[in-house]
Amino acid sequence: MPPSLLFGLSLLTFSLSLSSSTPVITQNTTLLSPNRTFELGFFTPPGNPHPYSYLGIWYYAIPTRSYVWVANRKNPVMFNESSSFSVSIFNGKLVISVDQGFHIWETDNVEHATVVQLLENGNLVLVSNEGKTVWQSFDFPADVWLPEMNITKDQLITCWRSSSDPSPGLFSLRLKPPVYGEFELVFNNSIPYWSTGNWTGNSFSGIPEMTVTYIYKFWFVHPYTKAASFWYTVIPPEMGLKPPLTHFRVEPGGQVRQYTWFPQIENWNMFWSQPENRCRVYGLCGNLGFCNSKSLMPLPCECLNGFEPVNLSDWESGDFSGGCKRRGDEKCDKKDVFEEVGVVNYDGIFNVEFVSNGTSRSSCEEFCLSNCSCIGLYYNERTDSCGNLYGSILNLRNMSLDSAMEVLSVRVGRGSVVRKNKWKIGVLIGGVSGLALGLALVVLVLVIVKKKRTRKRREEEEAVYPVTNLKVFSFKELHVATKGFSEKLGHGGFGAVFRGELSCSSTVAVKRLERPGGGEKEFRAEVCTIGNIQHVNLVRLRGFCSENSHRLLVYDYMQNGPLSVFLRRDGPNLRWEVRYRVAIGTARALAYLHEECRDCIIHCDIKPENILLDSDFTAKVSDFGLAKLIGRDFSRVLATMRGTWGYVAPEWISGVAITAKADVYSYGMTLLEIIGGRRNVEPLASAPAGEGENWFFPPWAARQIVEGNVAAVVDDRLGDAYDAAEAERVGLVAVWCIQDDESMRPTMGTVVKMLEGVVEVTVPPPPKLLQALVSGDSFCGDRADSGHGVSSGRLERISHESIQVSGNFILSH
Ligand SMILES: *[C@@H]1O[C@H](CO)[C@@H](O)[C@H](O)[C@H]1NC(C)=O
Ligand SMILES: *[C@@H]1O[C@H](CO)[C@@H](O)[C@H](O)[C@H]1NC(C)=O
Ligand SMILES: *[C@@H]1O[C@H](CO)[C@@H](O)[C@H](O)[C@H]1NC(C)=O
Ligand SMILES: *[C@@H]1O[C@H](CO)[C@@H](O)[C@H](O)[C@H]1NC(C)=O
Ligand SMILES: *[C@@H]1O[C@H](CO)[C@@H](O)[C@H](O)[C@H]1NC(C)=O
Ligand SMILES: *[C@@H]1O[C@H](CO)[C@@H](O)[C@H](O)[C@H]1NC(C)=O
Ligand SMILES: *[C@@H]1O[C@H](CO)[C@@H](O)[C@H](O)[C@H]1NC(C)=O
Ligand SMILES: *[C@@H]1O[C@H](CO)[C@@H](O)[C@H](O)[C@H]1NC(C)=O
Ligand SMILES: *[C@@H]1O[C@H](CO)[C@@H](O)[C@H](O)[C@H]1NC(C)=O
Ligand SMILES: *[C@@H]1O[C@H](CO)[C@@H](O)[C@H](O)[C@H]1NC(C)=O
Repeated sequence: MPPSLLFGLSLLTFSLSLSSSTPVITQNTTLLSPNRTFELGFFTPPGNPHPYSYLGIWYYAIPTRSYVWVANRKNPVMFNESSSFSVSIFNGKLVISVDQGFHIWETDNVEHATVVQLLENGNLVLVSNEGKTVWQSFDFPADVWLPEMNITKDQLITCWRSSSDPSPGLFSLRLKPPVYGEFELVFNNSIPYWSTGNWTGNSFSGIPEMTVTYIYKFWFVHPYTKAASFWYTVIPPEMGLKPPLTHFRVEPGGQVRQYTWFPQIENWNMFWSQPENRCRVYGLCGNLGFCNSKSLMPLPCECLNGFEPVNLSDWESGDFSGGCKRRGDEKCDKKDVFEEVGVVNYDGIFNVEFVSNGTSRSSCEEFCLSNCSCIGLYYNERTDSCGNLYGSILNLRNMSLDSAMEVLSVRVGRGSVVRKNKWKIGVLIGGVSGLALGLALVVLVLVIVKKKRTRKRREEEEAVYPVTNLKVFSFKELHVATKGFSEKLGHGGFGAVFRGELSCSSTVAVKRLERPGGGEKEFRAEVCTIGNIQHVNLVRLRGFCSENSHRLLVYDYMQNGPLSVFLRRDGPNLRWEVRYRVAIGTARALAYLHEECRDCIIHCDIKPENILLDSDFTAKVSDFGLAKLIGRDFSRVLATMRGTWGYVAPEWISGVAITAKADVYSYGMTLLEIIGGRRNVEPLASAPAGEGENWFFPPWAARQIVEGNVAAVVDDRLGDAYDAAEAERVGLVAVWCIQDDESMRPTMGTVVKMLEGVVEVTVPPPPKLLQALVSGDSFCGDRADSGHGVSSGRLERISHESIQVSGNFILSH
């Protein structure tokens, strides 16, 4: 936008009083909110295949285009060189008109408006002569829920169809009818697949950690009535500071996420996402699509063997709703065969016919083949019962084997099965065999083209980095060492980790970075920095590979894996002495990163998954320095923090500067997990995964520790086999580390001294944010003291000191 136009716009900002013919904006002009936070104008989403224009609102104040509202989602303006379009008030309504005539969109207000305003909170309002608001965009949300936007029974927040298509998708967030006491995510306005749980007065029962959201205040007036109305506001983290830009968004993939703008990295920071498992989104992969939550691929969906996406371009842009069809448009044929899918669960709109008992499978197949509408069958060997399926099948997912033994088979063309092996390779590489072939070709061409250059570069690189003791590996070398990346050790925020065997017969862990940011040079500079950091409690970097788009890091292999394995209730147990050593070792590593390295390194992602244990259970911190390495994209780091509030330091959420004290907070949270031998957030044992209420351990644990009752917090699997004085010290340090105010938290250097007993540890004040959970009238979890491996139960409302326990206790004995 030329500067002169900008200047002109600033005069237009606050309100416009218009005669009916003056356009509010044209296709070339925009309207700004008074303090220039939001901008209203026409836009064409990047990547949209059509020349469509939409009227929308986005943030003006930030460099990234993020749309918060779209007016004409269902009827875009076709952009055309010779036509013009504009927004104006016509007959008291706001209209989008094409070529000064045809109205493709208009507001539905009854009372006449004379003034249009774009408010500072992103609300576009129409005001009458009498000063009354007669229409507002907040009543017609698109996919974004902004602060102060009221959600009532009439509002529905509906995702975009794909990241480049604003038209309404299949997933929406709404107040759950007919009670209006909780929020739910629904598929196609009808089938719920996630809900917050009921409102308990200051949080929803499924999200107890929402009371520790620091800068957010949630308001729910008239819950459980038709007049229910819910909104949230943002409080500046400090007096005089502007509150951070923030919103919730229903993603095209069906999850709802919360983002905060992070000025330091000029990027959105995603720190809350539900449902945690993207495969729990109803109908995500469409008819005959299979969702794989552990998939290495960016796309979670795959078509079943013998099938391909109905619309490949939609599929690749992340809209899987079209589902899958028989490969190559093969017609139904009497010679079709049945491809076994396995024992799976599925939903969908289908009929089951011809339920036979004691008939052979072949007659069941025969019956299916006789009708072209039959898409497959299920068969139960034990009872010989069989059913033919008609319609569409959604949410195919693996089922635990102890349930029914009905095996699903789908009908495919004979030809598809012959090509099965080739197809499988296609699935592995790119989800579609055509894509795989294309990829292979591209790779081949690149290899040939770059071969010479690479050789030259490798010569250069050995010349440039003679001083570091890092080895430069070729991709081929690592491919061989990891047996084609076959033995996966884990998957973190930066990419997957594979086990590898070097020719000198030493075992290594190879981390394959996903979507590395920044250029080759930056990567090498960072890697050298990391390579020079050495400490007995840090995982040693042995070398790296940077070839074409591949970025790999080669580390020492840690025999006993991540600490998180030992924090599962069903996992192996760690002796107290080991836990204590791990706590101190981790603290020393962080103190070294924060205070002793040449440049202070903030880890940003301290959690049990990133603390590895070597053969003698020495703690080794991994992934340090990576936050910077992947292009300072902290959102990916945060996305791995289990997608929940309460795990991250409050300052992460508030958008103020991050210091080393953010690591101290995460370290404190990790200490609680080490003492308790459990995860801080885990579903209640009785609830099916991802459903119902969660248990949030830290508030309860912090209170017990502050009240001198650390024994209640210590993992009951240890019995009496622990040092009470050490446990008390560790507990108190943990609570000091998770203070809301970062200036109250000790430095890691001090933490080390406290743990070693060199510095006396006093009793910390209870962390206020966490305490709101236990002292307020919200739900919380507790653990009974029976000494028999009792896991979690549900607490009813807590009235002061008396704690009532209800629900099921699971005795693990
Ligand atoms: C908008 O700008 C384009 C060039 O950027 C110009 O060709 C067109 O005439 C302008 N349209 C209007 C309505 O001002
Ligand atoms: C705009 O910013 C000024 C100064 O920061 C402030 O006084 C004013 O209240 C703001 N206006 C709105 C509508 O937020
Ligand atoms: C552009 O729009 C005008 C009028 O709306 C129409 O007559 C013309 O055919 C369109 N041109 C193209 C290339 O679509
Ligand atoms: C939200 O709506 C309710 C009722 O519809 C109203 O009482 C309340 O003032 C509204 N809140 C805001 C922030 O608009
Ligand atoms: C959504 O629901 C409508 C009826 O309400 C139905 O016609 C349509 O087929 C459904 N879409 C999908 C993808 O299930
Ligand atoms: C919320 O309460 C309603 C009744 O008030 C009940 O029907 C519903 O099952 C509850 N939801 C949850 C998730 O407990
Ligand atoms: C589902 O189970 C089958 C057979 O047990 C297995 O081969 C497949 O990898 C599983 N798929 C997923 C996504 O877990
Ligand atoms: C796929 O869908 C897009 C719109 O989303 C449409 O434009 C395109 O024609 C479709 N392709 C096929 C092969 O149906
Ligand atoms: C098949 O057997 C089951 C129980 O074994 C019974 O419920 C069902 O009605 C039978 N179906 C037919 C078609 O006989
Ligand atoms: C095939 O099955 C469908 C659905 O059950 C039924 O409506 C249709 O009449 C059948 N067609 C034939 C030829 O049997």
